[in-house]
Amino acid sequence: MHEHFRDLSADMTHSFLGRNIVSARDFTREEILFVLDVAERFENRHLALLPGRILATLFYEPSTRTRLSFEAAMQRLGGSCLGFADKGVSSVAKGESLSDTIRVVEAYCDVVVIRHPLEGSARVAAEATPKPVINGGDGANQHPTQTMLDLYTIRKEKDRIDGLKVGFLGDLKYGRAVHSLVETLCHFDVNLTLISPESLRLPEAMLESLRQKDIPYREAVEILPAAADLDVLYTTRIQKERFPDLLDYERVKNVYQLNRKLLEGVGPDLTIMHPLPRVTEISTDLDDYPRAAYFRQAANGVTVRQAILALVLGGIA
Ligand code: NCD
Repeated sequence: MHEHFRDLSADMTHSFLGRNIVSARDFTREEILFVLDVAERFENRHLALLPGRILATLFYEPSTRTRLSFEAAMQRLGGSCLGFADKGVSSVAKGESLSDTIRVVEAYCDVVVIRHPLEGSARVAAEATPKPVINGGDGANQHPTQTMLDLYTIRKEKDRIDGLKVGFLGDLKYGRAVHSLVETLCHFDVNLTLISPESLRLPEAMLESLRQKDIPYREAVEILPAAADLDVLYTTRIQKERFPDLLDYERVKNVYQLNRKLLEGVGPDLTIMHPLPRVTEISTDLDDYPRAAYFRQAANGVTVRQAILALVLGGIA
């Protein structure tokens, strides 16, 4: 083991080697906490653990944070990156299948990060290659590395995850960051508050799964009083690109706007998170609110993705 990681579990480190990161469902509580522990070791430290290794980023959907923080993470680890950020410039535009693209790209890299509008696409990609594939978001389905950085942020801001009252606000129907995080929070002792318009409630299958796992939750439409006693409020963008009918989007696009005035009605400890990008759901007058954690959350993306890349590529073993 590398000297900075020698006290961590070698078995756990080994279990991540060459592994696909496709769904938050694939990880146990211990594995998630292990990733967070490894990520902590990268805080303010430049460890060039992956010299000569190459990350391919295949982005078939828009992205700023996920792609750039993966690239920053890889470069901080001493590796390099290639890829495309627009499917219009790749051979998909000529009709190439995802599996064919992956089988070609695997020869150019050591690990692939893919973002794609189709649910299940990351799994398809992972099955097409022996190289590790990391899901950077597949449609409304999953965004597992966002979840790891979200949990890292929660633990850093609140010193714990167990025992917290966590609220979700906005598009709980189409938000993949919400779906991954809710499912992963089921490994913890949390109490959930789900605030959304009626048409954007968390899918019934997920609610059923919360009931089966005995995770206490309540649903609400209005921010207050539901958010008044929460520890964390995870705010989300209404996912315009996922609505089959844009008229339905128009009806809900501005339903929520968090601002300073509204926060007068909540406890002083409420931490505001957002995976970003925001549109109108968080007013800029909240940006210098001490508990507005969303820019710190985005910065944590690099740290956590360094941990994920180093683990998957055997950099700390
Ligand atoms: C999220 C996504 O792409 O799912 N963004 C991100 O990765 N930080 C959230 C969103 O687009 O609303």
